[in-house]
Amino acid sequence: MSLIVKSVISVALLLHASAAAPARSDKTCRCDVSSAEMVLTGSALPTASFAPTFIGLGVGTQNYTCGSTGTYTNVGALAELFDASCLYGSPSFIGLSTTAFAAWNASATSDVFDSEAVISTARVVPSPFTLGQHYFITNPVAGTGLSPKWDFTSNAFAGNSAAFVVGSKIDDDAAPTNSAVNIDWLYLTNLTGTLANEIYRIDTQGGQPPASCTPGSPEIFVKYTAMYWLTGGAF
Ligand SMILES: *[C@@H]1O[C@H](CO)[C@@H](O)[C@H](O)[C@H]1NC(C)=O
Ligand SMILES: *[C@@H]1O[C@H](CO)[C@@H](O)[C@H](O)[C@H]1NC(C)=O
Ligand SMILES: *[C@@H]1O[C@H](CO)[C@@H](O)[C@H](O)[C@H]1NC(C)=O
Repeated sequence: MSLIVKSVISVALLLHASAAAPARSDKTCRCDVSSAEMVLTGSALPTASFAPTFIGLGVGTQNYTCGSTGTYTNVGALAELFDASCLYGSPSFIGLSTTAFAAWNASATSDVFDSEAVISTARVVPSPFTLGQHYFITNPVAGTGLSPKWDFTSNAFAGNSAAFVVGSKIDDDAAPTNSAVNIDWLYLTNLTGTLANEIYRIDTQGGQPPASCTPGSPEIFVKYTAMYWLTGGAF
């Protein structure tokens, strides 16, 4: 075999090998987190009853309107959820929410859909893989009031209309540090949907409104980040 033929074959093999190893952003390349351990130190949230299935970095806003008594009321939120499963166990995983918040809060944009560019430019998550979105809908069981939803139907499981969970809040605990600035840690269970059986919001940064407001002032959007751990579910 000539040298040229040999090198053509080895280049072909190399190309084949690199094609077989999916890039981190590949949809099939979320890392298995079933034995990952959630650190709930400093909070009174219950430990999970199911193994973790997703670990997402949430980057978004908490929304508030000003009530007639001059205090803010939460009226929902919007966040993008980026896969953090492959960072679990690496040094950047600890403090990921803090690092992401620093970049998000410093950025000129407050458009949640720009958050992917913000965290990738800041190298917080070098090549972010979007799991989905977190937002609020009308409570699908009661038909009134708002319920939080984690919706992976447009990203991680694009086209699979079952890839969501609507949560029911079970436990709400002040953030272990700086709770006037950082929103509560939460524990929710599945109300509808099979994406997860349990949802935790932990490692919160930011998101709290100012202590008072002028009645009549417009809705505000307060930037926050958090780690969302989803356990159980059918995905
Ligand atoms: C929350 O704020 C975002 C902007 O960050 C907006 O797109 C979304 O509609 C708001 N949701 C609610 C329920 O106010
Ligand atoms: C919610 O999770 C429980 C297990 O904790 C399961 O038995 C139930 O069927 C789930 N509900 C829905 C709507 O999937
Ligand atoms: C976010 O940035 C603003 C400046 O734009 C600063 O005043 C504020 O303290 C920061 N928020 C937090 C929670 O660090």
